[in-house]
Amino acid sequence: MATVLVTSVLAIDAAAALPGHAVVAPARGRLDREALLGGLATADALICLLTDRIDRALLAAAPSLRIVANHAVGVDNVDVTACTERGVLVANTPDVLTDATADLTWALLLAAARRLGEAEGVLRAGRWSGWEPTQFLGVELAGRTLGIVGLGRIGRAVARRARGFGMEVIYAAPRPAADDDGARHVSLDALCRDADVVSLHCPATEATRGMFDAARLATLKPTAILVNTARGALIDEPALAAALAAGKLGAAALDVFASEPSVHPALLAAPRTVLLPHIGSATRTTRAKMGQLCVDAVRDALAGRRPAHLVNPTAWRLA
Ligand code: DGY
Repeated sequence: MATVLVTSVLAIDAAAALPGHAVVAPARGRLDREALLGGLATADALICLLTDRIDRALLAAAPSLRIVANHAVGVDNVDVTACTERGVLVANTPDVLTDATADLTWALLLAAARRLGEAEGVLRAGRWSGWEPTQFLGVELAGRTLGIVGLGRIGRAVARRARGFGMEVIYAAPRPAADDDGARHVSLDALCRDADVVSLHCPATEATRGMFDAARLATLKPTAILVNTARGALIDEPALAAALAAGKLGAAALDVFASEPSVHPALLAAPRTVLLPHIGSATRTTRAKMGQLCVDAVRDALAGRRPAHLVNPTAWRLA
């Protein structure tokens, strides 16, 4: 009987979904780093969250670990190279969160464009004195340009939704996509110059961390709306807050932050921001499917079958 360590309560019952295995999981909440380290001493498989840092120190404490099933599509929290070196498989949860995350991207975009948070705040505070022609004026999206940085599954789903809003879509990616859903490939410089809304959909890697630094932010239109449902590390947050405070950027709508769960105080204080606690994939359906994909990956790996969503195929070849 293999031991499966699960670092958090999931939207599905992992123990019921893995009969024949000993599933060790907290009764509520999440395991902290110390408990994770302790649990890994005997674990054959791990189901972890994007908030768990799976690094060399942790892998060294996991002598029998065969698979890390990351309950996320992004794997920037996992040292994939170190896992591969140790022959540990890494699996993730793509596809099932594409629509939920694309929907939330649009929710953020619309909230920023039409100043929803600010307007609702005034109403709830009892400060709404009645309809006025110049109150809470926002921007209309039809005819404007949406710039998507990273045209993967989620970027394309965001692009598809843009058609319904009558927006032109351009995208920046290392190379033109075979399936671009009508979006036009441009350089990142051109995208920053021309887009009215810039939406980030690339993973956090060495190449993309801090990509939207002060210099890059200065190339956006002063009216641009910056949306991020990918990873907080893509943006230099103090620089973004400074650009907003100085009136050099239209608005920012963020679901992700560099040091979650903390949010940089400068961002909390910045004007024209919509800030959400990383809920891009937070629908019942999606979270259940993410949990199921993790369970499937663990079951396959423990039975000697190749998991469907393997991030490090080299580790499989070496196994
Ligand atoms: C992911 O899967 O990477 C998302 O950020 C989770 O919502």
